[in-house]
Amino acid sequence: MLKGKKILVGITGGIAAYKTPLIIRFLVKQGADVKVVATESAMQFVTTTVLETLSKHNVYSDLFSERNQYNTEHISLSEWADMMVVAPATANCIGKMASGIADDALSTLLLAFRKPIFLCPAMNTNMYEHFSVRRNIEYLRENGIAIIEPTCGELACGIDGKGRMEEPENIVERIVCYYRQQNDYAGTNVLITAGPTYEKIDAVRFIGNFSTGKMGYAIAEELASRGCNVTLVSGPTNLEVHHYNINRINVTSAVEMYDAAINCFPHCDAAILSAAVADFRPENVCKEKIKKSSDSQTMDIHLVQNPDILASLGKMKTESQRLIGFALETHDETANAQSKLTRKNLDFIVLNSLRDEGAGFGHDTNKVTFIYRNGDIDKQGLKTKKEVAKDIADRLKKVLL
Ligand code: CTP
Repeated sequence: MLKGKKILVGITGGIAAYKTPLIIRFLVKQGADVKVVATESAMQFVTTTVLETLSKHNVYSDLFSERNQYNTEHISLSEWADMMVVAPATANCIGKMASGIADDALSTLLLAFRKPIFLCPAMNTNMYEHFSVRRNIEYLRENGIAIIEPTCGELACGIDGKGRMEEPENIVERIVCYYRQQNDYAGTNVLITAGPTYEKIDAVRFIGNFSTGKMGYAIAEELASRGCNVTLVSGPTNLEVHHYNINRINVTSAVEMYDAAINCFPHCDAAILSAAVADFRPENVCKEKIKKSSDSQTMDIHLVQNPDILASLGKMKTESQRLIGFALETHDETANAQSKLTRKNLDFIVLNSLRDEGAGFGHDTNKVTFIYRNGDIDKQGLKTKKEVAKDIADRLKKVLL
């Protein structure tokens, strides 16, 4: 399964390091080419001889060692590997990575590495639950680092609790899963719209909505991590893009979003429109700030309809293209979503109801129902937006076949 894969195994100084040779052994057995980068303290728990015998490569542990083939080995190694797993990852290693500190071979490599990284934390329960460690782990996770959570059990310090490094077999299984999934979107181009649109009233005001873009960005990250080339047309958000497979095009208004989407769609296999597009915009935009007049208590803004991006793509759609829309409803949810599905010529629609707790704008969770053209309805429970993104990607994959 891992034939031809190049994997860097990082080891830091925790007692769980005695299990890392097994990870290397299992990876090599599956056909991977493995190189090891260890910290000085890791070498207190495992010997160079074991690591070099199993990986069949020199261990890299000293930035300035004479054994280095190049004086910038951290760069050449980061180019060589296609993924990196750090097992065990100590609180110190996690903290350094979260703070951008590079003071040894492993931490330097972690900062230079721009491909998937899996961290397998292992430490005493109190350390693991410490607010700074929790914050660092969450920060790394938010920035695209995969965390293989430790398990509960008897720790080396004698206490029972969470902090035991996941078993080598399971770590390797996660890596295999990653490779299995990684490429199911390779060679596919998908357009995603996300976030709100702002419709200008005058030089300082706009009509907008509460969308944060989290759902669309989660879908973009999910597809990109599975090898998809994603074009993300984004309205104004505070979110950042983390994956190199995502090409983000920033827009402000519905008309700008429409132009970008219409331009991009002919080159795409599918489009997922999750943006909360303003249905109307002010007919006239005042170049200066509108002043309030003292003799009037009201103000009229005349609105004209914006183009419906999804419906327009539905008209352009060819036989081989797929189109997915969202429906955010407050009442008659299913009937409204079904009507949008047919009216806009979609392959399926993702319905979320504002009546559901934890669904809709701003939340990190969502509760969706998938509705298909053949009438099938697939209702999901409350999930994180990341999980919903995975569900959407899995379902799109099925209709793309
Ligand atoms: N959409 C779009 N362009 C618009 C309006 C909506 O692309 N001008 C897309 C949204 O991105 C979403 C779907 O259409 O995928 C449904 O959006 P929604 O706001 O729920 O529905 P509308 O079609 O605007 O209808 P209504 O506001 O009447 O519910």
